[in-house]
Amino acid sequence: MKLITAVLQTSALGPVKSALAEVGVAGMTIYDAKGHGTQTGKVEVYRSQRVKVDFLPKISLEIVVTDEKLDAALTAIQEAARTGAIGDGKIWVTDVLQVIRVRTGETGPTAVE
Ligand SMILES: Nc1ncnc2c1ncn2[C@@H]1O[C@H](COP(=O)(O)OP(=O)(O)OP(=O)(O)O)[C@@H](O)[C@H]1O
Ligand SMILES: [Mg+2]
Repeated sequence: MKLITAVLQTSALGPVKSALAEVGVAGMTIYDAKGHGTQTGKVEVYRSQRVKVDFLPKISLEIVVTDEKLDAALTAIQEAARTGAIGDGKIWVTDVLQVIRVRTGETGPTAVE
Protein backbone atom coordinates (compact mmCIF):
# COMPACT_ATOMS: atom_id res chain seq x y z
CA MET A 1 0.00 0.00 0.00
CA LYS A 2 1.24 3.44 -0.94
CA LEU A 3 0.30 7.01 -0.15
CA ILE A 4 0.34 9.31 -3.17
CA THR A 5 0.64 12.98 -2.31
CA ALA A 6 -0.03 15.24 -5.28
CA VAL A 7 0.24 19.03 -5.02
CA LEU A 8 -1.37 20.44 -8.14
CA GLN A 9 -2.95 23.49 -9.71
CA THR A 10 -6.44 24.04 -8.27
CA SER A 11 -7.89 23.71 -11.79
CA ALA A 12 -6.57 20.13 -11.99
CA LEU A 13 -8.89 18.79 -9.30
CA GLY A 14 -11.85 17.90 -11.54
CA PRO A 15 -9.81 16.30 -14.33
CA VAL A 16 -7.66 14.37 -11.84
CA LYS A 17 -10.67 13.06 -9.94
CA SER A 18 -12.20 11.83 -13.22
CA ALA A 19 -8.96 10.27 -14.42
CA LEU A 20 -8.54 8.41 -11.13
CA ALA A 21 -12.12 7.12 -11.28
CA GLU A 22 -11.35 5.69 -14.72
CA VAL A 23 -8.56 3.55 -13.25
CA GLY A 24 -10.71 2.46 -10.31
CA VAL A 25 -9.38 4.81 -7.63
CA ALA A 26 -12.14 6.51 -5.65
CA GLY A 27 -10.97 7.34 -2.14
CA MET A 28 -9.03 10.55 -1.60
CA THR A 29 -8.60 13.43 0.77
CA ILE A 30 -8.06 16.94 -0.55
CA TYR A 31 -6.69 20.00 1.14
CA ASP A 32 -6.44 23.62 0.14
CA ALA A 33 -2.72 24.32 0.17
CA LYS A 34 -0.26 27.05 -0.58
CA GLY A 35 3.22 26.46 -1.81
CA HIS A 36 6.03 27.08 -4.18
CA GLY A 37 8.46 24.79 -5.91
CA THR A 38 11.81 25.62 -7.40
CA GLN A 39 10.81 29.04 -8.68
CA THR A 40 10.38 31.81 -6.19
CA GLY A 41 10.39 35.46 -7.12
CA LYS A 42 9.72 34.37 -10.72
CA VAL A 43 6.44 34.41 -12.61
CA GLU A 44 3.90 31.59 -12.79
CA VAL A 45 0.40 31.61 -14.34
CA TYR A 46 -2.49 31.34 -11.88
CA ARG A 47 -6.10 31.65 -13.14
CA SER A 48 -4.80 33.01 -16.45
CA GLN A 49 -2.92 35.78 -14.64
CA ARG A 50 0.85 36.05 -14.45
CA VAL A 51 1.68 36.13 -10.75
CA LYS A 52 5.03 36.49 -9.03
CA VAL A 53 5.72 33.21 -7.22
CA ASP A 54 5.46 33.58 -3.49
CA PHE A 55 3.10 31.05 -1.95
CA LEU A 56 0.43 30.34 -4.55
CA PRO A 57 -2.84 28.45 -3.98
CA LYS A 58 -2.61 24.75 -4.80
CA ILE A 59 -4.61 21.65 -4.03
CA SER A 60 -3.01 18.80 -2.17
CA LEU A 61 -4.44 15.32 -2.67
CA GLU A 62 -3.78 12.32 -0.45
CA ILE A 63 -4.65 9.02 -2.12
CA VAL A 64 -3.90 5.63 -0.58
CA VAL A 65 -3.73 2.91 -3.23
CA THR A 66 -2.85 -0.76 -3.40
CA ASP A 67 0.53 -1.55 -4.92
CA GLU A 68 -1.28 -2.92 -8.00
CA LYS A 69 -3.00 0.42 -8.68
CA LEU A 70 0.03 2.64 -8.03
CA ASP A 71 1.42 2.98 -11.55
CA ALA A 72 -1.98 3.51 -13.16
CA ALA A 73 -2.87 6.14 -10.58
CA LEU A 74 0.41 8.02 -11.06
CA THR A 75 -0.05 8.04 -14.84
CA ALA A 76 -3.66 9.20 -14.52
CA ILE A 77 -2.73 12.09 -12.23
CA GLN A 78 0.12 13.28 -14.42
CA GLU A 79 -1.81 13.12 -17.67
CA ALA A 80 -4.79 14.97 -16.18
CA ALA A 81 -2.74 17.65 -14.42
CA ARG A 82 -0.07 18.46 -17.03
CA THR A 83 -0.36 21.72 -18.96
CA GLY A 84 3.37 22.00 -19.57
CA ALA A 85 3.68 25.24 -17.62
CA ILE A 86 5.78 25.75 -14.52
CA GLY A 87 3.78 25.14 -11.38
CA ASP A 88 1.88 22.13 -12.77
CA GLY A 89 2.70 20.35 -9.55
CA LYS A 90 4.64 17.64 -7.84
CA ILE A 91 3.77 14.09 -6.82
CA TRP A 92 5.51 11.89 -4.29
CA VAL A 93 4.92 8.37 -2.98
CA THR A 94 5.40 6.96 0.51
CA ASP A 95 4.95 3.49 1.96
CA VAL A 96 1.84 2.89 4.06
CA LEU A 97 2.14 0.42 6.94
CA GLN A 98 -1.52 -0.20 7.67
CA VAL A 99 -5.02 0.82 6.58
CA ILE A 100 -8.13 0.08 8.63
CA ARG A 101 -11.75 0.45 7.51
CA VAL A 102 -13.42 1.56 10.72
CA ARG A 103 -16.90 0.24 9.86
CA THR A 104 -15.85 -3.36 9.28
CA GLY A 105 -12.50 -3.70 10.99
CA GLU A 106 -10.96 -4.85 7.67
CA THR A 107 -7.25 -4.19 7.46
CA GLY A 108 -4.62 -4.08 4.74
CA PRO A 109 -5.24 -3.89 0.99
CA THR A 110 -8.89 -4.98 1.26
CA ALA A 111 -9.52 -1.92 3.41
CA VAL A 112 -8.09 0.42 0.74
CA GLU A 113 -10.79 0.01 -1.91
N1 LIG B 1 10.31 19.79 -2.69
C1 LIG B 1 9.04 20.04 -2.37
N2 LIG B 1 8.58 19.71 -1.15
C2 LIG B 1 7.30 19.94 -0.80
N3 LIG B 1 6.39 20.50 -1.61
C3 LIG B 1 6.81 20.84 -2.83
C4 LIG B 1 8.13 20.63 -3.28
N4 LIG B 1 8.24 21.06 -4.56
C5 LIG B 1 7.02 21.51 -4.88
N5 LIG B 1 6.16 21.40 -3.85
C6 LIG B 1 4.74 21.76 -3.83
O1 LIG B 1 4.22 21.50 -5.12
C7 LIG B 1 3.68 22.70 -5.67
C8 LIG B 1 3.92 22.69 -7.14
O2 LIG B 1 5.31 22.64 -7.37
P1 LIG B 1 5.86 23.06 -8.78
O3 LIG B 1 4.99 22.48 -9.83
O4 LIG B 1 6.08 24.53 -8.82
O5 LIG B 1 7.25 22.24 -8.75
P2 LIG B 1 8.60 22.62 -9.46
O6 LIG B 1 9.59 21.60 -9.03
O7 LIG B 1 8.91 24.06 -9.19
O8 LIG B 1 8.27 22.36 -10.99
P3 LIG B 1 8.08 23.45 -12.13
O9 LIG B 1 9.44 23.83 -12.59
O10 LIG B 1 7.26 22.74 -13.17
O11 LIG B 1 7.31 24.61 -11.54
C9 LIG B 1 4.38 23.81 -4.92
O12 LIG B 1 3.58 25.00 -4.93
C10 LIG B 1 4.52 23.22 -3.54
O13 LIG B 1 3.30 23.36 -2.85
MG1 LIG C 1 7.60 25.58 -9.74
